[in-house]
Amino acid sequence: MLMVTGANGNLGGQVVSNLLRLVGPSGFVAGTRDPESPFARELSESGVDVRRTDFDDPASLEKAFEGVEAALIISTYAENSVRPRQNLNAIEGARRAGVRRLAYTSFAGANPQSLADQSYEVHYPTEQALIASGMDYTILRHALYADITVNDLDETLATGVLRRAGGSTPCAYIARDDLGVSAATVLAKSGHENRIYTETMAEPLTGAEIAALMSDVFGREIRYEAVSAEAWPQYMSEHWGIPLHLAKSSVGSMKAIEAGEFDISSPDYETITGRPPQTFEQFLRGVAAKRAKP
Ligand SMILES: NC(=O)c1ccc[n+]([C@@H]2O[C@H](COP(=O)([O-])OP(=O)(O)OC[C@H]3O[C@@H](n4cnc5c(N)ncnc54)[C@H](OP(=O)(O)O)[C@@H]3O)[C@@H](O)[C@H]2O)c1
Repeated sequence: MLMVTGANGNLGGQVVSNLLRLVGPSGFVAGTRDPESPFARELSESGVDVRRTDFDDPASLEKAFEGVEAALIISTYAENSVRPRQNLNAIEGARRAGVRRLAYTSFAGANPQSLADQSYEVHYPTEQALIASGMDYTILRHALYADITVNDLDETLATGVLRRAGGSTPCAYIARDDLGVSAATVLAKSGHENRIYTETMAEPLTGAEIAALMSDVFGREIRYEAVSAEAWPQYMSEHWGIPLHLAKSSVGSMKAIEAGEFDISSPDYETITGRPPQTFEQFLRGVAAKRAKP
C-alpha cells in the first residue's frame, strides 16, 4: 500500500490523480488534515482509503501510516519555525508504523550554506533526519514552481509588466503538474530507493526571458521589472494574499536566486518518468488553454 500526505493541497491533488492512474483507488491511502473536504469525500466515495493525517498531531500519525509500505510526505506551508518539527513528527510516525520507504518534497540545492531560509532551516535538516531514520528514502528536490510566475497573471497581462525579485539571474523552474507525475512514479515504481533527485526544466530562465515567453504566448507585450529581495514579501502579501509573516521568509530565497543558487539544470525528471518535463513555453501554453476555456 502507498500513501501521499497533504492530499487536499495543489501538489497533493496532482499526486493523487497520478496514483489513481498508476495503481487505482485501492492502491493508496490519501492523508489529509481534512477528510471531510469535498475532494477527500469524493476520493473516499471512489474507494480511496482517506485518513486524517496532521503532522501537528504526532500521536495520530502511527495510525495514519499503518499498513503503508511507501509514502510521500508533502512539505507543509507553515512558518519555518514550525515545519521541521512537523516533518520530524511525520518521519517518526512513519517509522513507527513500519513504512519501508519514505519520499519527501525538498527544495533544489538544499544545503546548510544556502541563502534560502527554507533550505537550511527546513529541507536540509529534514533530509538529514530522513536519511538517518533507517527507512529507505527518496528525496525530491523541487526547483521553483513555474506556477508561481502566473500567480498574478491577470495583473501581469493588464499592466504588461511581470514584477519579480531575483529575475536578473537564471533560475530553474518546473511545472507543479509535472511534479505530481514524478512523485507518484517514485512511489509506485521500484528503483528509487536511497536516491536524491533534483527536478528542473532543461533551461534555467531570467525574468526577462520569462516575460518574452509570456509576450509570445499571450500575444501582448510584457516586460520584466525587478523588485528587490527585501521588498518582495510585501509584494507577495499585497498581490497574492500571502500573509506577511509567511512571505517574510522569501527574502532569503530571492537572494539565493540572485546569487545563482538555482542557475542549475538536471536530467533527473526524465530519469524518473521517462519523458522530459514541460518547457516553460509548454507550461504557459497550458495556462493559456485553461484560461480560454469557458
Ligand atoms: N518549489 C516551490 O517553488 C514551492 C512553491 C510553493 C510551495 N512549495 C512547497 O510545496 C508544498 C506543496 O505546494 P502546494 O502548492 O501544493 O501548496 P498548498 O496547496 O498550499 O498545500 C499545502 C500542503 O500542506 C499540507 N499541510 C499543511 N499543514 C499540514 C499539517 N499540519 N500536516 C500535514 N499536512 C499539512 C496540506 O495538506 P492538507 O490540506 O491535505 O492537510 C497541503 O498538501 C508547499 O506546502 C510548500 O512546502 C514549493
